Amino acid sequence: MENKLPSHVGIIMDGNGRWATARGKERSYGHRAGSDNVDKIVTHAFSRGVKALTLYAFSSENWARPKKEVDELMRLLKIYFKKFIKKVVKNKVRLFVMGDLSVLDAELQKIISEGMEKTKDYGDNVLNIAVNYGGRQEIVHAVNRLLENNLPVTVEGISKNLYTAFIGEPDLIIRTGGELRISNFMLYQGAYSELYFTDVLWPDFDEKQFDLAMEEFSRRNRRYGKV
Ligand code: IPE
Ligand code: IPE
Ligand code: MG
Repeated sequence: MENKLPSHVGIIMDGNGRWATARGKERSYGHRAGSDNVDKIVTHAFSRGVKALTLYAFSSENWARPKKEVDELMRLLKIYFKKFIKKVVKNKVRLFVMGDLSVLDAELQKIISEGMEKTKDYGDNVLNIAVNYGGRQEIVHAVNRLLENNLPVTVEGISKNLYTAFIGEPDLIIRTGGELRISNFMLYQGAYSELYFTDVLWPDFDEKQFDLAMEEFSRRNRRYGKV
């Protein structure tokens, strides 16, 4: 049997809040645990042959959460990216951050651009983090870019102007935390992605859980509308 591997995997890292609540802790405690879980999965995914990994860290709609929680999420993002930059040379992973970064605080913007700049020549593995990202907003952004350049609005034109143009469409989208929805994640490029939902909450999602998703993917039959 053909051994099918997803080249690009997207993960909706959901369930931090409920993980903390179940332990009688504040939601922020869950975000810290969730953030601590990221590197393990990134390392594992690349070791399994995944080329690009897109992680949904903060949606355009997540600003509507209590300020305290938003502040903690922004603080954790800063810590994560700073740590990432320190390990850059060793890891040789290209960092990309997609979303409307213009409204992030200046320090976070600076850390992100430094991380992207320092790693832009690494090509084997791409870690793409979605921050202040919304799939609808991304489509609008892509269409506006076409219009600004007097280009026709076509399916290919939009694809080429999505943030992810250089890594292509996700073959597999995993959502942890039990909700059966996409929550504005990669709406355009996910048109033919295989979807995998698990009840496991993000802080508990480990290498074994990742492998289960990979196995399930290898059993899927992708038809793209054909027979
Ligand atoms: C995912 O966990 C992290 C973000 C959305 C930033 P949640 O915070 O949504 O956790 P639940 O879904 O409330 O458990
Ligand atoms: C999606 O999770 C966003 C991220 C994981 C960053 P949410 O928790 O925000 O999604 P909903 O509100 O359950 O749809
Ligand atoms: Mg959630």
